[in-house]
Amino acid sequence: MSERIPDETVDDIRQKTDIVDVISDYVQLKKQGRNYFGLCPFHGENSPSFSVSPDKQIFHCFGCGAGGNVYSFLMDHDGVTFKEAVSILGSKVGVEIDPASADEDNKQGENAKNQYQDQIEAHELLAKFYHHLLMNTNEGQEALEYMIGRGFTEEQLKTFRVGWSLPSWDFTSELLKKRGFDPASMEQAGLIIKRDNGSYFDRFRGRIMFPVENDRGQVVAFSGRLIQATKEEPKYLNSPETPLFQKNKILFNYHRARGAIRREQSVVLYEGFADVISTNEQAAHGIATMGTSLSAQHIGMIKRLTNKVIICYDGDQAGVEAAYKAAKEITSSGLTVKVAMLPNNMDPDDYVQKHNAESFRKEIIDSSVSEMAFKMRYHRMGKNLTTEDGRISYIQAVLKEISALQGAVEKELYLKQLSDEFDLSLNALTQQLQSISPKQKQTDIKTNQPENKPADQPIGVFHRKSTLRPAYLTAERHLIAHMMANDETAYTVQTLLNGEVLNKDEHQAIYTYLLAFYEGGNHSDAGAFVQILPDRHLRAIATEINMMDINPDVGRDELNDYVAEVLKYQKVLKIKEKQLEEKEAERQHDFIKAAQIGMEIIQLRKALKR
Ligand code: UTP
Ligand code: MN
Repeated sequence: MSERIPDETVDDIRQKTDIVDVISDYVQLKKQGRNYFGLCPFHGENSPSFSVSPDKQIFHCFGCGAGGNVYSFLMDHDGVTFKEAVSILGSKVGVEIDPASADEDNKQGENAKNQYQDQIEAHELLAKFYHHLLMNTNEGQEALEYMIGRGFTEEQLKTFRVGWSLPSWDFTSELLKKRGFDPASMEQAGLIIKRDNGSYFDRFRGRIMFPVENDRGQVVAFSGRLIQATKEEPKYLNSPETPLFQKNKILFNYHRARGAIRREQSVVLYEGFADVISTNEQAAHGIATMGTSLSAQHIGMIKRLTNKVIICYDGDQAGVEAAYKAAKEITSSGLTVKVAMLPNNMDPDDYVQKHNAESFRKEIIDSSVSEMAFKMRYHRMGKNLTTEDGRISYIQAVLKEISALQGAVEKELYLKQLSDEFDLSLNALTQQLQSISPKQKQTDIKTNQPENKPADQPIGVFHRKSTLRPAYLTAERHLIAHMMANDETAYTVQTLLNGEVLNKDEHQAIYTYLLAFYEGGNHSDAGAFVQILPDRHLRAIATEINMMDINPDVGRDELNDYVAEVLKYQKVLKIKEKQLEEKEAERQHDFIKAAQIGMEIIQLRKALKR
């Protein structure tokens, strides 16, 4: 919020810290070759797939994909902010974070603090005012009737301090001025907007106002709903991103739900905050993002309170897609996911209004299903299971999900379910599963009988993934690994690729960040590099690649081979695309066009062999 820690200090502390020491406070580590291994603290497991590299000063879990440098470890594990992580480690190695980065900053810091306080006060004042307007005045009557008519109770409106902003251009700006708030600061807080002529007008006009609170319960933003949605304006208007309100760090109702989340030992995650409000009588452990997707910070906030998330998104296609995505992200952070599903395109609020809160609790929340059961339903969507094609593609999708499961018992359970559902022999399915991931089976046997397995012999498991990867992906990973190990190599690869992009988006992203990192004057430093990656997914991939064993004296020939492999795949894709075009032309009886495309395909095939 206030002053920023200088990059040099961040680097200095990181370099003075040994990641192995720090993580040893949390995880029992055993040395294996150059790296250390232990049980991953981010997901439950009984064979160690969590590794720490003292050379590279990074950690990576081969099981759940968690990874990063020493700061990311503390942030993910303890749910602290970046700044807190730096300061905690700083005090361990004797680098105190300058209370004010410089003397002149001191005043600035003070000012920023006052401004922050002012902005919160303004929000609190407005929340009170808007609430009063809604509950007690003629001006607010229509809005109140709308809310009550929708099924919200007065109790709920009071608890969540719901309000009404007058349909006026300057009610709020005048009020704030009269109370002595600095207009520039109020503009920065997103409450009023400056006109070209220097005067101000209200951002929220004629809207039902929902205060958004931070984790201390202070109002830091609003979302305003139109009574009647129109095409011209958004249904909900939110405060912009401000120093107070960063959507990726705010969860609606987080503050109020804390106690309930601990009691229930789970949290319910909704898409809309209206859902949080209307379900809160029977399920007070609800929170929602503010119209954004779930961020790593959000997951960190949740992790501080519970390790079980019940996703309760809208029952429409978009909601189910979003739930699938959120489930993946949450599980990969080591939390358990359940999914509460709504019938017939309903959202949770619709359900409560149509039935009631008790029924919602019982039929929806308490009937939430495991992540896998949800995924099975997800893969069924849009497929016609009465056709053979539909069935096969469904079974393939589910087998793929099953192959990714950790426990053997779980795997068997779902295989059994599939076999019952489609009247297929368990044997056939098991074989099919093995063909998806032949090495996976071995892991199962190990997880099954941990006592038979020497505790410090985890290495073999880790190489399984690489053997299953298509050649072009392996090639991309090698290129990145070499680029991370040496900045000169990075530039060589850039030349060899000659503007072509890597096939996997994440690889291309890491490639781009890496080049920027070197161009910014840095040299090879894995720990520093992963820090600049903006999301944990990229960090996970980067750290995993970093853990690869590569030939330190790589030559241009070897690099060239990898590049050729990457480009070859693009040609293969091109051929596939052409083949589809050819089929389409044939279908339309345009045989001349089909023949032309056929020729192109032959040319492309020849080029591939060269
Ligand atoms: P929904 O459109 O699902 O709203 O948006 P809802 O929760 O069902 O609300 P009602 O029942 O129509 O009142 C879900 C979330 O997406 C964001 C809001 O955070 C909302 O809670 N959103 C939606 C916006 O930010 N702007 C919009 O115009 C619409
Ligand atoms: Mn709704």
